[in-house]
Amino acid sequence: AWSAARAAGIVTEHAHLEGATLPILHALQDTFGYVDAEAVPLIADALNLSRAEVHGCISFYHDFRAAPAGRHEVKLCRAEACQAQGSEALHREILGRLGCGWHGTTADGAATVEPVYCLGLCANGPAALVDGEPIARLTADSLEAALTEHRQ
Ligand code: FES
Repeated sequence: AWSAARAAGIVTEHAHLEGATLPILHALQDTFGYVDAEAVPLIADALNLSRAEVHGCISFYHDFRAAPAGRHEVKLCRAEACQAQGSEALHREILGRLGCGWHGTTADGAATVEPVYCLGLCANGPAALVDGEPIARLTADSLEAALTEHRQ
């Protein structure tokens, strides 16, 4: 869980580095699994940056999460062969059902959705990974079934 005291320690440890923002953000994310909004003023003060600059850095790099990830990781292939098999419309449907966007997490914390670019399943697209397990010929229903199966 997020700890402001621990986060402050991490910021202090790295503050002397050149271009310390990224190393600090990586260390926070490695430690807590995400970068809490509380970190923004800590980093800004330590590095003499504006809060907007720190916030901009967090949102620019999709590696950083602003909230804990969902319990399951869904990766949807957005590369060309899957696009040719209708992935874009499918992804719109899936994101609509899940009620989140790319890099987003469902309101119940069940899943986080990330894009990937080719899973080597091009002949059987659209393709996805759910917690690292490949799914070929993905549909919104098969994804829902996979998430239900993984839910326990
Ligand atoms: Fe989607 Fe290759 S393009 S798996």
